[in-house]
Amino acid sequence: MPVERFAKKELIPSLQARRGGGTRARMGPMEGMINLGAGDPDFNQPEFINKAVYEAMKGGYTHYSFGGDPEFKQAIAGYYKKYGVDVDPNTQIVIESGGSQAIYRSFGAILNPGEEILIMDPAYGGYRGPAAYFGATMTRAKLTKGKDGLFRPDMDNIRAAITDKTKAMLICNPDNPCGTVYTEKELKGLAEVAVEKDIVLIADEIYTEFTWGDSVHRPIINLPGMEERTMVLMSFSKTFAWTGCRAGYIIAGPELMRVVKAVPTGICSMPVAFQRAGIKALNDGWDFVDEMKAEYKKRIEFMAPRLSEIEGITCPYPEGAFYLFPDISELGVPSAKFSQDLFAKEKVRCASGSGYGENGEGHVRFALVRPVEDLAEACDRIEKFVKSLPPKAPSAYP
Ligand SMILES: Cc1ncc(COP(=O)(O)O)c(C=O)c1O
Repeated sequence: MPVERFAKKELIPSLQARRGGGTRARMGPMEGMINLGAGDPDFNQPEFINKAVYEAMKGGYTHYSFGGDPEFKQAIAGYYKKYGVDVDPNTQIVIESGGSQAIYRSFGAILNPGEEILIMDPAYGGYRGPAAYFGATMTRAKLTKGKDGLFRPDMDNIRAAITDKTKAMLICNPDNPCGTVYTEKELKGLAEVAVEKDIVLIADEIYTEFTWGDSVHRPIINLPGMEERTMVLMSFSKTFAWTGCRAGYIIAGPELMRVVKAVPTGICSMPVAFQRAGIKALNDGWDFVDEMKAEYKKRIEFMAPRLSEIEGITCPYPEGAFYLFPDISELGVPSAKFSQDLFAKEKVRCASGSGYGENGEGHVRFALVRPVEDLAEACDRIEKFVKSLPPKAPSAYP
């Protein structure tokens, strides 16, 4: 008898879909593989943080921390102030064990069965499961491409997608997979809609530290009318290459935070010794972040133009985050087939654009989590693979 009979009904679609594949599919090391699928930085957590964890444990930080370490929350408030936002550590921060848990908790705080949460298209795939789990419907607003080829928020699409069931709208800024950093004008437009429609705005800002060129990260929570309706989701995963040790937090206005805190997730799930190390990271970790940024920048500057050299691929420079999301529509191959065949033939992993929404079709995502030499090798293999594709059938329409 299939195990579906025991499952909560909202889990059944994902049980049936989870038969394999995906950027995260567990796989052992494979000779010659260049894995640009998952966004797991190739930098190791720095030694001073490892030491801080050990020192904290030796110092007795091994007990319950019900509401999160107060000094850690203080350090988070100090950090977010650099974006011009004053946050009260006691009433406006909850500690989470990563961005994924922040998504789960923020959704759990507000979504009732039958309500809608509006998410951009394309968008990171990790919002889908939690929305479904809480019985909510994920609606989509298509992003549209600007002149530079980057996907941007489209206020007409956003307004058209909001219904009287819409409880919240979620933006990812800087955006994974698109690489967009929202401008002040875009953020003001989104804030105006959120206030007018009286909905919650969830801002996934986990790539805050990774902006390129003239782009700067601006928070939406301090725009007029937004503190009371914004939840900012943050994670140490990318900022400090801390994906395995699980650290994150949510910032919200004090009243909305009462709702977030009411979600019964139990005792604070980020280990106490890591919270202590988090203080160290927020105080002393910025040279390490700058080194990573310099390296990501090199990778972007190498790979974006190199991909665009390949006939049929156009790759815009991202404004933020460390992904490339090139347009492969000229090749006439569905993105899932492109990524599967590229892996099968050339052992290069990427994520198919269709996994980020209907509007992501015609694109693939490369996570720049390998050094330039590996990216160069990956690009040579991608070029070889593209050259082996059959010519695109001519369009039936002139
Ligand atoms: C946009 C976005 N939000 C949330 C997450 C999840 O973060 P974490 O790894 O901290 O759970 C990711 C991870 O890749 C992400 O890209």
